[in-house]
Amino acid sequence: MALATRLEQLGTETAFAVSLAAAEWGAKGNRIFPFHLGDLNIATPKNVVEAMDKAIADGKTGYCPAAGIPQLREALADDVGSRRGLSFTPANVVVQPGGKPVITKFIQAVMNPGDEVLYPNPGYPIYESQIEYFGGVAKAYRYLPSSTGFNIDLDQVKSLITPKTKAIIYNDLQNPIGAESTDAEREAIAELAIKHNLWVLSDEAYFEMRYSGKSKSIAQLPGMLERTVILYTFSKKFAMTGWRLGAAVAPLEIATMIAKLNTNDESCTTHFVQYGGVEALRGDQSSVTTMLDTLRERRDTAVNMLNAMPGVNVHSRRQRSICSPKSRAR
Ligand SMILES: Cc1ncc(COP(=O)(O)O)c(C=O)c1O
Repeated sequence: MALATRLEQLGTETAFAVSLAAAEWGAKGNRIFPFHLGDLNIATPKNVVEAMDKAIADGKTGYCPAAGIPQLREALADDVGSRRGLSFTPANVVVQPGGKPVITKFIQAVMNPGDEVLYPNPGYPIYESQIEYFGGVAKAYRYLPSSTGFNIDLDQVKSLITPKTKAIIYNDLQNPIGAESTDAEREAIAELAIKHNLWVLSDEAYFEMRYSGKSKSIAQLPGMLERTVILYTFSKKFAMTGWRLGAAVAPLEIATMIAKLNTNDESCTTHFVQYGGVEALRGDQSSVTTMLDTLRERRDTAVNMLNAMPGVNVHSRRQRSICSPKSRAR
C-alpha cells in the first residue's frame, strides 16, 4: 500500500536519530558524551517541578483551553512583552507543546502551496522540512564570516525575494552558529519584510540564553509587530526540554488560527505542565542564574580546550572562523 506522496517532502532533525542510536549504545554499557541534541544535563528548577506536582495533585489532569490556561497566557504576555519593551495581551499568546510546533503552525497559517519562504542555512532543520512538507518552496539564505562573528548575506536575501515570497524565518541568537544580528542587520531584515509585505517567524529560542548584554527582537522595530510571530520556548532557559512547553506570540489574526490548529492537532498542551510554566515565569529565578553560570564555565572550558588543539579555531568575538552551508538533514 502506498503512503501519501507529500511525505517525500518531509525532512527530519537527525539529532533525534543520533539520540536513539546513542541511547542504544549507552544501554550496552558504553559511555556517551551527548553533543547531539540541544539538551542539558541540568534538572528543571525544583520550584517548577513542585508546581507541576501540585497541579497534578489538585486535579489539573483534564483537557484545558486549546490556546492554554489563562494564567500561563497572561504570564507569557507579561514576560515576553516586558523583556522586549512591547505590549502583548493573553490573546496574542498561544501555548504550544514546545517551541517546535510554532514553526509548523506558522507555516500552515501564512503559506499557501507554491509560496516561497526564506530560511537560514545553516539553521534549525525543521524550517526547511515543514516549508516543503506543506508544498512551499524553501529558499535558503546564508551567513558570511565577519571580523565580529557571522553576518546574514543581505545581498543574497534581497536576491532571493520574488513576488511569490510570503515569509522569512529569522533566528537571532542563531542555532547552530551562535550569530547575533547587529542593529543594522536586524533593521535591514525588517525593512525587506515591510517592503515586500512578508510575514516573519522570529525564532527566539535563545533570546535569554546569553552571558552578557541584552537581546533585541525584530518585533520591536517599527512596522514589525503586526507581521511577526515570536517563537518562545521554556526548553532552554528553564531546562525543560522534555516537558514540551512553548508558545507562539503573534498578531491576533494569526494567534486565532494557531489556536484553531492546536484544537485540530493536540487539543491542548498538557494541562498540568502549564502550571510549571507559570511558576517558571513568575517564581524564584535563582536556578536560572545558577544554570547560566554553569553553562558559562563549561563554554569557557570547551573553547579553551578546542583552541588549544592544532588546526582548530573556535569562533569568538576576537577570532574569525569559516562557516560552510550544511546540507539538508533528511
Ligand atoms: C533554533 C531553535 N528553534 C526551536 C527549537 C525548538 O525547541 P523546543 O521544541 O524544544 O522548544 C530549537 C531546539 O533546539 C532550536 O534550536
